[in-house]
This record gives sequence, C-alpha cells and structure tokens, in this order.
Amino acid sequence: MTPDSFNFLAGLVKARSGIVLTADKGYMLETRLGALLRRENIPGLDALAMRLRGPMAHALAAEVVEALTTNESSFFRDGRPFEHLRKLLPRLAAARPPGQAIRIWSAACSSGQEAYSVAMVAVELATQLGGRRVDILGTDISREMLDRAQDGVFTQFEVQRGLPVTMLVKHFRQEGTRWRIAPELRAMVRWQGFNLLDDARALGRFDIVFCRNVLIYFDAPTKSRVLAALAGRVATDGVVYLGGAETVLGLTDRLTPAAGERGVYEPARATARAG
Ligand SMILES: C[S@@+](CC[C@H](N)C(=O)[O-])C[C@H]1O[C@@H](n2cnc3c(N)ncnc32)[C@H](O)[C@@H]1O
Repeated sequence: MTPDSFNFLAGLVKARSGIVLTADKGYMLETRLGALLRRENIPGLDALAMRLRGPMAHALAAEVVEALTTNESSFFRDGRPFEHLRKLLPRLAAARPPGQAIRIWSAACSSGQEAYSVAMVAVELATQLGGRRVDILGTDISREMLDRAQDGVFTQFEVQRGLPVTMLVKHFRQEGTRWRIAPELRAMVRWQGFNLLDDARALGRFDIVFCRNVLIYFDAPTKSRVLAALAGRVATDGVVYLGGAETVLGLTDRLTPAAGERGVYEPARATARAG
C-alpha cells in the first residue's frame, strides 16, 4: 500500500468514526480488510482507496470503518463500575418522581455484554428500586455488533469471562454450546446505531452513561468533543463511567472525577444543564 493510500484510508476512518490509525497500523488494515477486499473483488488496499475516492462509495466506506472497529467486550468488565452502580441505582431511584424510569446509556456497547450486565444488576436490585423501570439504550457504530447484541446469544467463552456462574444459570438459557439471555433482560435494552461523533441530543437525557473503552481510539480533540456531549446528556445527579485507561483530565471541565472512585465522573455543577 502506498503512503498516499494509507493516509487516505486513515483520514476517511478518522473523519467517519474518530478512530485514529497511526502509521504503524498498515498491517492492521491488511488483516482487518482482507475479507472485505475478497468479498468485493478488490485486488488490494490501493485499489480500495481508489474505489473509495470515487462516487457512490458511502456504503463501502461504512464497511471499512466497521471492519476497523475493535469490539472487545466482556460481562461486568473491570468489576468496579458495576459495584458502584449497585450503590448508585437505589439512590437515583429514591430521588426520582414515582413512575419515572431510570434511563441508562451504554454508548459504544459492542456485542452487548455491558448493557446486559447493567440489566442484571437492575433486576437483582428490583426490590430496592421499588419496582421502578430501568430502560437501557445500547448504541454502537457497528451494525454487526448491534445485531449480535440484539440476538443476546453468547458463546461459552464469552460467558466464562466475568460472568459469575450463579448469574449465568439465573439469567441465561443454554442452547447447545451457546447461552441465550433471558427475555425479561433482553426486553430492558433497546439497540440503536449511533456514531459518537454525531449530535446525541435526540437520544434524550440519561441518569447514567457508560462510555468505556472507546475514547482510547480517538485523539484529544475528539475525546474532548465526545466527553462534552456526554456531559450534556447526563442528569445533574447522575454519572458517566469511563474505561480504566480513560480520563476527563485535560479534556473537559464539564465532568469531574467522583471523589474516591476510579472511572466514575459527575457532571460539573455549572454546566450540567447546558448542551
Ligand atoms: C472495545 S469496544 C468497548 C465495548 C464496551 N463499551 C466495553 O467496554 O466492553 C469499542 C466499541 O466502540 C465502537 N465505536 C468505535 N468508534 C465509535 C464511534 N465513533 N461511535 C460509536 N461507537 C464507536 C466500536 O464499534 C466498538 O464496538
């Protein structure tokens, strides 16, 4: 692949998704785009770049971006945010008017483990939540991941990562070598295509936002922009959870670290209602 083709492809991916491909990622383009090239009968990455420069390349460009997303996820990933959630949910439920659902957004939800982990916590806290509904929205740029999330069927390997056996037995049904999430948990989550670079206001406001392990792929200006948008979507007494390698420091003053917690951020008071 020529440097010109690499720069073109990297520019396209960044513009469409925020994902930064540094110059050492040439091999990654080769491996991740191989299947797409074969399927579309495109002889190589230079030819792909040429095709994408032409008209009517929108769908192909979306497929290129999708192939370059990293979709690694697991149930109860990193543990601690979910322990924090167990304490936070009853407090938020008590603070909301009767009948008002708690809204939780799993932004960049990948194959759905994060959103379903949240649903399991909510179901287990049902008594403490006084029967209050918990509505979860899972969004991702990847159509393929959203389809998988919506199916709610996971491999033995996937359920062995982070999911306690008691929860597996309680909330999943075995189908051969796979495990299907219980219908009542599935019904708590709605799935929607959403690009974090787009205007999130149409999604409404959330009590809690999970946006974990996606900002790491963005550059600082994109992180700042996305974090400011998330701050504008979360309730003044709600929180945003970020991944263990992610922070708001130096990126936005609209979210501040929650005292004594890691990966938990609260809207800064003066700005929480803006945006
Ligand atoms: C590593 S996974 C993280 C999944 C989950 N949040 C977790 O922590 O386990 C990153 C996800 O971000 C998604 N993604 C990347 N860029 C995105 C964008 N601009 N908008 C929405 N989702 C994006 C990818 O498709 C991928 O599913």
